Amino acid sequence: PVLVVDFGAQYAQLIARRVREARVYSEIVPHTMPVADMLARQPAAIILSGGPSSVYADGAPSVDRELLATGVPTFGICYGFQAIALALGGTVAHTDSREYGRTELKVTAADSALFHGLPAGQSVWMSHGDAVTAAPAGFRVTAATDRVPVAAFEDTARAVAGVQFHPEVMHTEHGQAVLEHFLYEVADIRPQWTTASIVAEQVEAIRAQVGGKRVICALSGGVDSSVAAALVQQAVGDQLTCVYVDHGLQRSGESEQVERDFVAATGVNLKVVDASEQFLSALDGVSDPETKRKIIGREFIRVFEQAAREVVADDSVDFLVQGTLYPDVVESGGGAGTANIKSHHNVGGLPDDLQFALVEPLRTLFKDEVRKVGLELGLPEAIVYRQPFPGPGLGIRIVGCVTAERLELLRAADAIARAELTAAGLDREIWQCPVVLLADVRSVGVQGDGRTYGHPIVLRPVSSEDAMTADWTRLPYDVLARISTRITNEVPGVNRVVLDVTSKPPGTIEWE
Ligand code: XMP
Repeated sequence: PVLVVDFGAQYAQLIARRVREARVYSEIVPHTMPVADMLARQPAAIILSGGPSSVYADGAPSVDRELLATGVPTFGICYGFQAIALALGGTVAHTDSREYGRTELKVTAADSALFHGLPAGQSVWMSHGDAVTAAPAGFRVTAATDRVPVAAFEDTARAVAGVQFHPEVMHTEHGQAVLEHFLYEVADIRPQWTTASIVAEQVEAIRAQVGGKRVICALSGGVDSSVAAALVQQAVGDQLTCVYVDHGLQRSGESEQVERDFVAATGVNLKVVDASEQFLSALDGVSDPETKRKIIGREFIRVFEQAAREVVADDSVDFLVQGTLYPDVVESGGGAGTANIKSHHNVGGLPDDLQFALVEPLRTLFKDEVRKVGLELGLPEAIVYRQPFPGPGLGIRIVGCVTAERLELLRAADAIARAELTAAGLDREIWQCPVVLLADVRSVGVQGDGRTYGHPIVLRPVSSEDAMTADWTRLPYDVLARISTRITNEVPGVNRVVLDVTSKPPGTIEWE
């Protein structure tokens, strides 16, 4: 792999993704990892990420000189660039030449390995206080800005290079090209990481792990569990059994998507458990959001456990599939190969006598790669590009108690909103659009000749990168108008449609 050494800024994941976009496999490692451990992974190259504002700050991590003596091609970005300069005898100074944001870069060596073929003037993204004032001996300075004389350097003989700007961010015009020049030319890596190679590699790894044993998977209908299951199916076929718990809180058409489309695309063994009655009666009379969530979680475990016991009846099931993604692995501090002590908890705290080892075929992948793998495996786009939908489903989109009638009403309204958003081509633009029924609120309306006293439906379209923060999506008025007209005409009991114009924070995306 290419190792992206994380110096603690938020850029490491982005760099790792850009490297993979260049079709080169990358992994993120903490800067505290000993050089010997990094070398043990046989890195094709090492990229030092951005980090704290100053290499001179208290406790600022430095680059082990040993690392630069290993002969592994190395690329420094921002802080990593300065750290290389310091480690190899260049100078880095506190200057008043702080640069932040879009900056004009001037390439001073047109034949440089990093910049050849790119325009002499280009827009780059800067974010630094200190600056390299002299490159280490043997390095050629290849770019500058108005304020900074050394904005890039390289020593192709040693295969070490660096840039002061951030090539990984969108605002850097030719960032991807610069990164690829480093990977393909300075580090001499051939791009071989493709979706097909990911699938082949994972299939092999799953086979090696699972052998002739049997595997179980809880399908939710979401992207991650679907793609994970499809990969395992590809690897070990009928040794896999998927369990789908129908809790009756899905949106219109979602169960069919799992039971019909997913099965048709993968040929997976599917055990469907219709537990909607059980969930409804457990939720009877409950309106507090947290209580609802807890009840739904608890019932889910009960039902899945029962189903698992039936599948496990002959004691030959040893593995449980989980759709853990790479960002979760990185954020929980575990590199590749870390023990999965906590993961059992993630599947909802299965009881001790149901002990499974985990199969996590998406552990090294980012979300966009998971989608590509899904398409490669022949999953329908409707599954691969499904927007996020909470595990507790419509149960937390009815403000008030959950009843069969209310679910039906909300399902109808939601189906209309989704159909209109899809028809307007807005699916990829919005992150998700919860549709919420305010079951405890009623307002007066007039329809035909009569007075109505019905419930409002809330539309909550949001734009987001990762659901941690979000903004409300400015949907075109004509689309909103169509959704409103159709819902009030077609869904009995609803006489008002309102738009949620709150960002997150302060509002969460879901209402409960
Ligand atoms: P909030 O409402 O916290 O939601 O802004 C952030 C994102 O998480 C989704 N969400 C859930 N997903 N189980 C899930 O799998 C849950 O219990 C759950 N609650 C919220 C929500 O749809 C949004 O994408």
